[in-house]
Amino acid sequence: MTSGGALTELVGDDCRVPCVDGTERRYVNLDSAASTAALPAAARAVAEFLPTYSSVHRGAGYKSRRSTEAYEHARHTALEFARGGAGDVAIICRNTTEAINHLAYRLGLEPDDVVLTTVVEHHANLLPWGRLCRRRYVECATDGTFDVADVVAAIGTPPTPRVLAVTGASNVTGWMPDIEAIAEAAHHHGVPVVLDAAQLAPHRAIPSSVDYVAFSGHKMYGPFGAGALAGPAETFRHGDPFLAGGGAVDLVDLDEVVWTAPPEREEAGSPNVVGAVGMAAAIDELGRIGWPAIVAHERQLARRLRRGLAAIDGVRVVGPPLDTDTLAIATFSVEGAHHALVAARLSAEWGIGVRHGCFCAHPYITRLLGISPEEIERYRTALRGGDHRAMPGAVRASCGISTSAEDVDALLSAVTAIARSAAEGEPPPVAYEQNPATGDFWPVADVPGWRPDDKGTGASCAVG
Ligand SMILES: Cc1ncc(COP(=O)(O)O)c(C=O)c1O
Repeated sequence: MTSGGALTELVGDDCRVPCVDGTERRYVNLDSAASTAALPAAARAVAEFLPTYSSVHRGAGYKSRRSTEAYEHARHTALEFARGGAGDVAIICRNTTEAINHLAYRLGLEPDDVVLTTVVEHHANLLPWGRLCRRRYVECATDGTFDVADVVAAIGTPPTPRVLAVTGASNVTGWMPDIEAIAEAAHHHGVPVVLDAAQLAPHRAIPSSVDYVAFSGHKMYGPFGAGALAGPAETFRHGDPFLAGGGAVDLVDLDEVVWTAPPEREEAGSPNVVGAVGMAAAIDELGRIGWPAIVAHERQLARRLRRGLAAIDGVRVVGPPLDTDTLAIATFSVEGAHHALVAARLSAEWGIGVRHGCFCAHPYITRLLGISPEEIERYRTALRGGDHRAMPGAVRASCGISTSAEDVDALLSAVTAIARSAAEGEPPPVAYEQNPATGDFWPVADVPGWRPDDKGTGASCAVG
């Protein structure tokens, strides 16, 4: 990394955006944990592929053969990335959410089965299990972490869980549980491990010790709509696939179906070959850049970001102690300022993109913020009536390979100004109005990009 620079550039890094003072600023993207921009190599691979785009596994023409080849090559790349071995398959999905739903269905869970998971999880690794069977949770401490010993105790409690579903890295705190130790303990009890690698995959190598891996291309610089689920082919060899339809069968009669072998058995319908090509190219490019460079770059950013925010008067960073090795993510609150207002001001006044709210991890954020049961009941009642204004939450800044130290410093200086104005009761330079239906704030302004008519481009963070 050049001093203070990005590790590599992404498509759109030079984008300028309108601000409420009527000027344009370089967009400072600190929302990589949500979705990343494309690596130029991924965008190039997609552009080069498109002229030969055609059906996959459904045509005898030359272009179909080329498309099928490209798709199968992408599958191979995804499987290798997930550290899949002999006997494993990669199923191309839309994203991590679809991958975990897919797996949950294919494990043939019974209502009395138990899946062990944790309160740190994203909703994508909680809800798919909860509608099929019982869940047992590993609790976290007030700093949002748990010990391997807590997991070991939960695994050993009868009945033995069918699987352990755990995140590789929290999308809220960037904390990374010790997956190798957890997997060893789970395997000791014969419990397979499902890794939600949505956040881990773009930042660290996938641990080889887990049994199933789910990840999303749009979080790892291949934003073309594909993700993957990798795991033993045996899981998918018998029983009904998650999706039923064309491409998944060997034989169909009006009252009979013979499903084909995995992975095709699991991919009914025409696949997203463009997404798969983009994701594979992003994986190849990450491999070319290499984990040592990525980890070194992001460790520097993590330190600068988390320590910098924590040093600002009136700012509280949630999560593990500041010397913990986390992803370059910081979730914070500003005393006296609504989280949605902080995010709106960062965007409208400084051109900085962050996320606010609960980050699709309601159980985790209520623990991190220490919200009392009475408060939870109060906002739940308001929410049921369609009012999102009092929804608790925080602000999240997250970095990736194209984030620079200057980007982090831009955030630190903007948050310092917001915290100071909140402490001194000083109003923002423009008034902001809160939308009860979303909880989001919008500036009252008459400049390009921020007029009332531009509200259509406002992105609500309310849906978790
Ligand atoms: C830890 C974690 N798991 C799962 C998901 C769901 O990913 P997707 O929206 O790509 O399905 C996310 C998304 O933010 C995440 O951060």
